[in-house]
Amino acid sequence: MTTETEKLNVIGHRTNRIDGPLKVTGTAKYASDHQFPGMLYAVAVGATIANGQIQSIDASKALKMPGVVGVYHKDNIAKIFNLPPSKGFLDMVIDERRPPLSDNTVQYYGQIIAVAVAHTFEQACAAADAVEVKYDSKTPKVDSNLLADAKLKVEYQRGDALAAYEKAKHKLDLTYRVPPEHHSTIELHASVATFDGHSFTLYETTQAVVNFRDVLAGYLGVEPDKVRVITRFLGSGFGGKLWPWSQSAVAATLARQLGKPIKLVMSRKMVFQAGGHRPAVEQRVLMGADDAGKLVSLQHDFANHRSILDEYKENCDECTKYFYSCPNVLTRFASVQRNIGSPTSMRGPGAVPGLFATESALDELAIKLKIDPVQLRVINEPSKDESLNIPFATRRLLECYELGAEKFGWSQRNAAIGSMKKNGTILGWGTAGAGWIAERFPAEVSVELRDDGSIRVLSATQDIGTGTYTVLAQMAAEEFNVPLSTIDVVIGDSSLPAGPISGGSMVTGSMIPAVSEACGKAKEALLNAAVKTADSPFHGAKEKDLVFANGKIRKSEQSDTEGIPFHQFLKKYNFKMVSGKGSSGSTFGAKASVSRHAYGAHFVEVGWQKDIARLRVNRVVTVIDSGKILNPQAARNQVEGAVVMGIGMALFEQGHYEPTKGALLNSSLADYIVPVHADMPDLEVQFLETPNKELNEYGAKGVGEVGLAGVAAAIANAVHHATGKRVRDLPISIEDLLTVT
Ligand code: MOS
Repeated sequence: MTTETEKLNVIGHRTNRIDGPLKVTGTAKYASDHQFPGMLYAVAVGATIANGQIQSIDASKALKMPGVVGVYHKDNIAKIFNLPPSKGFLDMVIDERRPPLSDNTVQYYGQIIAVAVAHTFEQACAAADAVEVKYDSKTPKVDSNLLADAKLKVEYQRGDALAAYEKAKHKLDLTYRVPPEHHSTIELHASVATFDGHSFTLYETTQAVVNFRDVLAGYLGVEPDKVRVITRFLGSGFGGKLWPWSQSAVAATLARQLGKPIKLVMSRKMVFQAGGHRPAVEQRVLMGADDAGKLVSLQHDFANHRSILDEYKENCDECTKYFYSCPNVLTRFASVQRNIGSPTSMRGPGAVPGLFATESALDELAIKLKIDPVQLRVINEPSKDESLNIPFATRRLLECYELGAEKFGWSQRNAAIGSMKKNGTILGWGTAGAGWIAERFPAEVSVELRDDGSIRVLSATQDIGTGTYTVLAQMAAEEFNVPLSTIDVVIGDSSLPAGPISGGSMVTGSMIPAVSEACGKAKEALLNAAVKTADSPFHGAKEKDLVFANGKIRKSEQSDTEGIPFHQFLKKYNFKMVSGKGSSGSTFGAKASVSRHAYGAHFVEVGWQKDIARLRVNRVVTVIDSGKILNPQAARNQVEGAVVMGIGMALFEQGHYEPTKGALLNSSLADYIVPVHADMPDLEVQFLETPNKELNEYGAKGVGEVGLAGVAAAIANAVHHATGKRVRDLPISIEDLLTVT
């Protein structure tokens, strides 16, 4: 791997997506693009109650309709097995664990209770609509008053937060709410399942093909080697596709039962209702501080809703524990059962809603103490990770603030509420910090040097739209010092060497050591072939006296214009390829000697036009410290997208459950509001590139999730600065602000 003094040719340079042309020409095949002869279409029927029993399912009308093959439910679908318990970290992960169609109990509105199968999609839709279901229905519980129902348990403590709070000179006790939020990916959850009599091939929408294979093998009652899961392209995931959902087990089971390929695409409505969401979260933050603004006590209670059957924890105290210096910290958590589909990870799970609360509260403290919000962060900057009592690997949070403040013009801020105006619009300026873990998942990869001159990188990880194809190609191109176009990246297939889940913004950081090792091994294999092959010009030489550089094999005394291109060597001596394997371990679970995180700071300007009740985010400056940036173009894309998602979180996004029936009412992209182009601010993204070499050779940390952390707080803080109205219950609505006099 390169040393710091070596010049990087590909890594660190703006690089277009190598899969871009496939996507813009429509050549890239997503799960639901797969077609097979004889394929049947399945359409799921969702429950129209949220709590109760199915009394009867009458499919007689549906079965008489043209093209209908059958309507399958608990009584006539082949067995779907219980999943064995998870054996530990990342083993058989799924949020809704109960096998679909396994009993008559309905726990949430939209739960799959039957599936109609027909020769065309339209016929299957019509048949699904014609299925008549009778229920014995009870009133569901779907409200978001969570802390009132929560039996909080201590998650973390140091010192005595309660006693310190009692004695504190300045105190805040504030409650914040984040509503259910939906991933709103453009590509719907989809399964195309094929069964050849022995094995399954499943074309799926997943951020984790290996875990998906293992879960589906469990449901299907077969060994994992009888299941192959393919996700070559994903129309984004944001966590919504990290773990399997019920429709996949149904599609695969029907493929075996009917002996035909099955396509099951969830409707937008059902993805909203039964395909995961960020849970509703209620948080109480108690802060105690002295006159100088130093935190003396920090308490963070948080509760999220979860489904009736499955535990789900939104880890809101992740940053609370280490973000600021404070001797007395207490965090407590509870989940609260509701009649809802299971929540799941959504971009920056835990840290994102957590930082909305704590970074809003810190702003409230700054106002109370009349201290500039940036200065308050300086006052509370820790010199080590106080939760683990270990040093930070790198932490440049204050430099993020410094650079962001300079780019934004923060020194011009007048702290008085509503005091800053431009063309009749009141401006509000707010800031908040961001943090996200930087660890590694286990990764395996193989690298092939091939006789056609290509170099192939193979791993069962996946590109969820973030640029994984490109960054893996960059890594191999850099290792071998060859053009990027030489590299083929083959991922998104569970039959390849097990790669990391595309979750937690950790694929790139996890893959670097494995790719480096595999490239080294492939090179060794090539040089070994060079010295061992009779009639090779290198026959009998010592491997250490050979060089493989710029795609050529040569003797070390030869100049770099001499030598034989590797594919010429392979062709001439009749090798299809030589290859090497690489693997790297997880950094989870091991006792850490340093605390590893990505950091960031956001500066936001909102414009508030009171007379016409118009609020918009005018501009954002975001500075991110994610270590070495391997592809500045893709990294900037990630952070820009995250900031836009943060605007959605702050101003628009909210799932509404109807209280009597328990239906998620706004389960469509027309009714669930997300930011559009007209909402885009003037957006500037800066990176501080401090390599964290102890995580991987380039010192790269994730960029996906950290960019969303803190955005909603920065916007809420800016809205307060403009209007004097503190909104602690997201999203910030015009109605919240119209009560301002
Ligand atoms: Mo991300 S929520 O880990 O896909």
